[in-house]
Amino acid sequence: MPKGLIVYFSQGGTTARVAEAIAAGMRATEWQSTSCNMNDKQPPGLDGYDLLGIGTPTYYYHAPFKVMDYVNSLPPLKGLPTFVFVLHGTYIGDTGNDIRRLLSRKGARAAGYFHSYGADFYLPYLKEGYLFSPDHPTAEELTKAERFGREAAGRIGRQDYTGAKRDPPPAAIYRLERFLTNRQLANHIYSRLFRVDDKKCTSCGLCIEQCPTGNIVEGKKGSPTFGRKCLLCLNCEMLCPEEAIISPASWPLFRPFMIYNVRHASRDPSIEHVRVKHSQGRTQRL
Ligand SMILES: Cc1cc2nc3c(=O)[nH]c(=O)nc-3n(C[C@H](O)[C@H](O)[C@H](O)COP(=O)(O)O)c2cc1C
Ligand code: SF4
Ligand code: SF4
Repeated sequence: MPKGLIVYFSQGGTTARVAEAIAAGMRATEWQSTSCNMNDKQPPGLDGYDLLGIGTPTYYYHAPFKVMDYVNSLPPLKGLPTFVFVLHGTYIGDTGNDIRRLLSRKGARAAGYFHSYGADFYLPYLKEGYLFSPDHPTAEELTKAERFGREAAGRIGRQDYTGAKRDPPPAAIYRLERFLTNRQLANHIYSRLFRVDDKKCTSCGLCIEQCPTGNIVEGKKGSPTFGRKCLLCLNCEMLCPEEAIISPASWPLFRPFMIYNVRHASRDPSIEHVRVKHSQGRTQRL
């Protein structure tokens, strides 16, 4: 029985749900399929696998650094069939393009590309009162993901698949935002500038537990200390029940982008949204 490996990164669970739907589609064509969320454990090596699927959310119009690091760490792929799937709350940008380009450079053979909307818990939007793409992926999107899994598995061994078209490049304003959230700035500048209000922090440990890169450790006084491997996912700030963390995402520098993005996406009829209130680590629909 041929074996497929699906490696993905998921914080909010939407990429995980699509991964499971794709895996179910593959199993329906008598493939064996193993899934691994790199947020929970180290992905296994590729030995013995006939297909590799890579799944990711979109962060700032590209893939999170952690996903790019995984793809970069892969050995030469020597024609291994690979597919890519991407979740996005608003605009996908270059997320799929970057991963597919890198896989192609590693010698992979394209076996498919899938993308879907996913509920967008990007903190600055929540604070502004907007949750984009709530309730996504929908049942219909999951059915499409399952079909995609069946089709991708069915393509293995066929040489006539030339690959899906690239996504259009993001508009200039998104490219600028992407530049401002690049890895060098994140690691060397923003990482140093997360602040914790010691008067509010109760040392509950939630931010430490929920950081996907282990970037937060307990400091001398019990309050968290930040390292240099931040993804700017803002999970720590979003979940803190005491609102004790203030990240650089709250800086005035990012405010014009946030206002533009919220206005643009909330007026785009192809993107759903609901109004919400985010406080003390919880998001409630209004
Ligand atoms: C820090 C952060 C940045 C994001 N940036 C984008 C973006 O640039 N474009 C977009 O369409 N969605 C963006 N999103 C939304 C996620 O890509 C989307 O909600 C995805 O479904 C989350 O996947 P998960 O639930 O598996 O974590 C962002 C979300 C977060 C947390
Ligand atoms: S989640 Fe908030 S209150 Fe809990 S340790 Fe982190 S900063 Fe402190
Ligand atoms: S934003 Fe917070 S939770 Fe996310 S990687 Fe950085 S330190 Fe960790």
